[in-house]
Amino acid sequence: MFLLVSTLKVFFNVFYTSFILHALSSLLLIFPLSLADAEEERLLLDSIAWPESPRPPPFFSLNQTSDPAHSTFIILPGRGGVERHIGDQLEVMIQMYDFQGNPKKSGGDVLLARLHNRALEAGVAGQVVDHLNGSYSAVFPLLWEGSVMLVHSSEAVTVLHRLNREHPDRVLFKSLFHSGSISDTTFCNVCLRQTNQPQCNYTDLRTGEPWFCYKPKKLSCDDRIKHRRAGFNVRLKDKEEKLFQSVKNESPGGTKVNQFNSSAISQCLKGKVVHLYGDSTVRQWFEYFDQTGPYMIWDNAKNILVTYRCHGPPLSFFNTPTSELRYIANEIDGLVGGTNTVVVFSVWAHFSPFPIELYIRRLQSIRRAVIRLLNRAPDTLVVIRTPNLRGLTPSVSLGYSDWYALQQDKVLRAVFKGLNVRLVDAWEMTLAHHLPHNIHPRRPIIKNMIDILLSYICTK
Ligand SMILES: *[C@@H]1O[C@H](CO)[C@@H](O)[C@H](O)[C@H]1NC(C)=O
Ligand SMILES: *[C@@H]1O[C@H](CO)[C@@H](O)[C@H](O)[C@H]1NC(C)=O
Ligand SMILES: *[C@@H]1O[C@H](CO)[C@@H](O)[C@H](O)[C@H]1NC(C)=O
Ligand SMILES: *[C@@H]1O[C@H](CO)[C@@H](O)[C@H](O)[C@H]1NC(C)=O
Repeated sequence: MFLLVSTLKVFFNVFYTSFILHALSSLLLIFPLSLADAEEERLLLDSIAWPESPRPPPFFSLNQTSDPAHSTFIILPGRGGVERHIGDQLEVMIQMYDFQGNPKKSGGDVLLARLHNRALEAGVAGQVVDHLNGSYSAVFPLLWEGSVMLVHSSEAVTVLHRLNREHPDRVLFKSLFHSGSISDTTFCNVCLRQTNQPQCNYTDLRTGEPWFCYKPKKLSCDDRIKHRRAGFNVRLKDKEEKLFQSVKNESPGGTKVNQFNSSAISQCLKGKVVHLYGDSTVRQWFEYFDQTGPYMIWDNAKNILVTYRCHGPPLSFFNTPTSELRYIANEIDGLVGGTNTVVVFSVWAHFSPFPIELYIRRLQSIRRAVIRLLNRAPDTLVVIRTPNLRGLTPSVSLGYSDWYALQQDKVLRAVFKGLNVRLVDAWEMTLAHHLPHNIHPRRPIIKNMIDILLSYICTK
């Protein structure tokens, strides 16, 4: 009996390991990565390397993980001594302790720091530096009172990192195939386990982005009509699960920029074509325009056109016609561009549960298209909406933790650095705002984002 169990275990491990290797190697093989892209990928991976926990799961005891309740911070004396003035920098030293009250000796906790002023409904985000010895510094321009929150302990990050490498298929996707009177549904993903069921290869020929579905028995690969997310499947060991129990939705104060009322919006957008591409976080901008009017989608009188299109797989919307699944790079290649064209994109949220290489390669392919666009039409305005903090629950963390978004945010900024593109810093806007974190930030934050977008468009 014992033998049987251990043999099965070994079999499972071998099977599983070969799937992971297949998954990663298929990602690595399919993409026609140039040497320069591969080198950039290596540098990007180095730049987001996260400190390893000295006791990775399962070799830790929960009471040795970081505990916000025991942890302390002190405000370091400024250059002018104890007295401080608005506009000074404020440096705070944070020391993390575990649940037994012992100081942590290693780094890697995910800390977010902000100063806020409820009366002014305003806030500012701090820069956190990990000293890798259990202490962290947070530096802010001194405006208001502040707070530091622990998003994840370093031990939890180790689990999140492992999940993306070993379970890149924990988000489930399905496609509906249909022809005549026959319908069938099969599983799809960036890569699929090899079974005796044949697979359909939907890898995009232009960008090289991989996508596969199991082939339905009685239908052809061309009969695929719908794409949807079909659940989330991850199992953690008991102790690992506890690492995420304290995760909760936090509410951290707002950035004021030029304010645009609806007539100012119309005036600003007169004669413009605005293309929004990506996930639902940029679809919110489309909806904002739609509700703010007076023009919308297409305002003939003012000659305004605003469009929205979702990005391609691994998009995890609930029911998307496959004809709508387009890669942003290909869409950008279809634009003439010019001084009245605005291209906005937001691509991040759906990539969280996958190895970050998938995200890096998607950004590299979009960047190539942006460079081609700016080359043929240098006056085109390109705006990138960055990732934001979301409301976390223990189960959401396992696929969509803010730690994943934090890593994506760093990669996104690095990939587009030096190009003539503008950013809307959704990360800082959601960190600094007093409204609760939400994958879909509430309307006052969306208004702040739109005001920034319009400032870019109308002061170009
Ligand atoms: C802390 O963990 C150690 C090792 O697992 C265990 O022996 C001890 O009982 C734990 N203490 C508490 C207070 O849970
Ligand atoms: C950790 O490192 C920082 C920066 O080098 C230092 O200021 C601090 O005193 C160190 N903390 C401990 C407990 O050694
Ligand atoms: C899928 O199609 C792409 C593009 O034709 C090809 O490069 C790749 O090798 C195919 N992958 C598999 C696993 O068949
Ligand atoms: C909208 O803002 C403009 C200035 O940007 C102002 O002149 C105008 O009166 C405002 N309109 C409304 C309806 O508030």
